[in-house]
Amino acid sequence: MLGSASISAARTPSGVRGNSIGRRIPAFALANRAGVPLFAETACRYRSRVPVPDTETERIRRIYDRRSATSAAPKGDANLRWLCGQAQGETLEVGIGRGRTLPFYPPGIHLSAIELSGVALETTRRRAVELGIHITLHQGDAASLPYPDDHFDTVVFSFALCTIPDDRTAVAEAVRVLCPGGRLLLVEHVRSPNVIVRALERLFEPIELRRMGDHLLREPLNHVLAEGLEVERLERSWLGVVERLAARKPEADELEEAV
Ligand SMILES: C[S@@+](CC[C@H](N)C(=O)[O-])C[C@H]1O[C@@H](n2cnc3c(N)ncnc32)[C@H](O)[C@@H]1O
Repeated sequence: MLGSASISAARTPSGVRGNSIGRRIPAFALANRAGVPLFAETACRYRSRVPVPDTETERIRRIYDRRSATSAAPKGDANLRWLCGQAQGETLEVGIGRGRTLPFYPPGIHLSAIELSGVALETTRRRAVELGIHITLHQGDAASLPYPDDHFDTVVFSFALCTIPDDRTAVAEAVRVLCPGGRLLLVEHVRSPNVIVRALERLFEPIELRRMGDHLLREPLNHVLAEGLEVERLERSWLGVVERLAARKPEADELEEAV
């Protein structure tokens, strides 16, 4: 497990998920004991795990830890509205970054998120508190999700598969934790079908890889299809660079029929 800490932010202390051996942040622990509602809403725990190995994943974590931009999305961001607006039930966002997507989720869902960067995750936690959103946060690796099989109704990626070093495994993990009948939703920048744009992507990819760990020529659709998901919606915009995808994990009996 690559994650070095887990964090939970929840509306009530009873809703807090975390680790019993966790070390509480003193301010929150004090406020909780005193029963201050604001802090009860934001109770959080950290715990140390094994050190993160020095791999490409660790390089990406350091890049996103250092990034200072708070990146708010415009209220009308059509991609994020499309993406998060479809979330239902138990929902996981993978690579949530600094919580740009938070305002776009509908009320009534139960939201969890995982993110490699502890610094980004802390910003997300603060944003969730400001917005009054109940969310369970984990620091960890998309390629090794700390959730059981068949657990989520919706799994969301928002411009995350472009930086996750092992995007194929991240999609396989997302499918593993999805319930049968559950939906994988993503908005990503991908390899453009337009030759001129693709040539530019090829030209700039080495720079972006070094700078932000950002792959410009990826095709997440291939991984989604390889995992046996049924594509329900596929849209491209920005000369084919931005992809919106909604895909459904088949029910067990549908899989049996297909064999
Ligand atoms: C381009 S940012 C997008 C953040 C956010 N989804 C958004 O739309 O603003 C990519 C995010 O993926 C995270 N990430 C990269 N590799 C990851 C991994 N292996 N596991 C979890 N998160 C990862 C990065 O730390 C970063 O926050």
